[in-house]
Formats: sequence, C-alpha cells, structure tokens
Amino acid sequence: MMEGLDYYLRQAKEGNYAIGHFNFATEDVLRGIIEASRDAGAPAVMVGTSGGEADFVGMKEAVALVKVMRENFDFPVFLNADHFKSFDKCKEAIDAGYDSVIADGSKLPMAENIAFTKQVVEYAKEVSKFKNLNISVEGELGYLRGSSEVQKKIEISPADYSKPQEVADFVSRTGVDRMAIVFGNIHGIVTDQKEKLDIEHFSRIVSALQGHPVSFVLHGASGLKDEDVVASIKAGITNVHFNTELRVAYRNEIDKQFHEHPNETTPYKYLGPAVDEVKKLVAQKIRLFMWKN
Ligand code: G3H
Ligand code: ZN
Repeated sequence: MMEGLDYYLRQAKEGNYAIGHFNFATEDVLRGIIEASRDAGAPAVMVGTSGGEADFVGMKEAVALVKVMRENFDFPVFLNADHFKSFDKCKEAIDAGYDSVIADGSKLPMAENIAFTKQVVEYAKEVSKFKNLNISVEGELGYLRGSSEVQKKIEISPADYSKPQEVADFVSRTGVDRMAIVFGNIHGIVTDQKEKLDIEHFSRIVSALQGHPVSFVLHGASGLKDEDVVASIKAGITNVHFNTELRVAYRNEIDKQFHEHPNETTPYKYLGPAVDEVKKLVAQKIRLFMWKN
C-alpha cells in the first residue's frame, strides 16, 4: 500500500528536502520523468498536467498511464491537476482519479479565491472519504507572471508577492494542504533578464505559518540558478515545479535529431534521444532537491 502525498511532503519538511513536480503532455516524457526520479533516488515524484496538457493527454488517460507506471516502476507517483482555474475542471480531475489539484484562483479577488478554493477542498474531502483516499489540494496567492515557455522579459514586482498575513488567513480559511506562493518566481524562462528569488520575503511567509502543517510550493523554477532553488528549500520549500526546461530539452533534441537524420520517420528513433535529455535534466533536479545527500 503506497503512502499518500501528505506523507512524502511531511517527510520532506522534516528532512529539509523537496519533492519534484514535473509536467508532461506525452507518455514518453511521463515515463522518462518517473524512471529518472526513481533512479536518482527521489522518495516520490509529482507529475502534472496543466489545463492544456490535460486536454491533450486526456484526464482519464493520464490517470491510467500514471497507475500503470506507478505499478511497473514500483515507485510512488502522484498525479496533479496543475493550475486548474474553475471548480468544474477541478471536479473533473478529482472524478477522473487525480491524486491532487491546484485550485488556482490567484487572479480572483481574495474573497472569491477563498470561496472557490474552499469549495474544491470540501469536494476533495467528500470524495476522499467516500473512496478512502487522501486527495491533496493546493491553493495559490500572489501574482505569478509568465507562462511555461521561453520569453524575453517579464516584469517582476514585489507588489505581486504573496503577503504573509494573507497567506496565513487563506490557509486557515480554506484548509488547503499546500500553498503556491510568489516571491520573485515567474513561470517560464526569460532570456533578457535575471530571475531572482526573494528568500527573505519567503521566510516571512514561513514565519506567519509557524507550526502549521501546510506545505510551501515553488512554481516556475525553470530559469532559476541552482543555488536559488536550494536556498528556497533550505528556507522551507518542500515541492518544486519544473516545466519549461523539460520542454526546451525535449524540443531541442528533436530538432537535433531531425537535422542529423533528415529522412528518419520512425518516432521512437528520434523521440528516444529526446526523452534521454529529459531524464538527464530530471536527475539533475532531483540531486538539487536532495541537496543534503
Ligand atoms: O506549474 C508549473 C510550473 O510552475 C512550471 O514552471 O515552466 O517555469 O518551470 P516553469
Ligand atoms: Zn506553476
């Protein structure tokens, strides 16, 4: 019987390391993420589908793929609905069998964000009770700019950061298991600017929730320096999200394969090396998350 995600996140908090969250849109990348995480010594891994990725893979298909791979690799894998913005979409993911959802109401006014997130938490609890599961819910506060692609420049303003007292109120009023917060992080990679986390600001959020079991999640880790990621984990992040760097590694290797073998038409011959690049990257990130070892 596999332990739940809450167990692995609790262990990460005690051990001061992080569990990785990686996005996928195809079966080969999913398999690569799981295999590399297991081989690199991660205790568990979260895999996620954004709204677009879920539409492409299919929610029921994603659940079925994760179930088979979890069994085949004999490794704890948790499927997350990443940044789902409506109750109906969160419900669809929960009903399909996702282990976790991010109820992303960060663009809503605070009161509406709380109401929406609370509705998802209550639904997740109801289904968990009925099916004897422990479906995890993440909330989000603050303005997390950018998207998971290569961008030139993204305005980063401290005004967008999650406010410590608001995070504390939000957590106690919604009952979320995890919180996505903003402290200098953005989604995607920027080419004409340096990304920098404000660890002091993050520490103020941690202090506002001292003694509370909620887990803190770093989104938008692509493009950050390794030392910034490690510093955030040392300060209390237990879950780190990567997407864009994996997309770029996969895409660049496919480009290389097409360039070197212009007549190749067998998918596994050009996709295999692309998945190998994703695996190398995931292994490198896992070593970062387990910085103490
Ligand atoms: O939820 C997804 C992540 O936050 C991905 O961010 O594309 O910057 O790695 P990233
Ligand atoms: Zn994210």
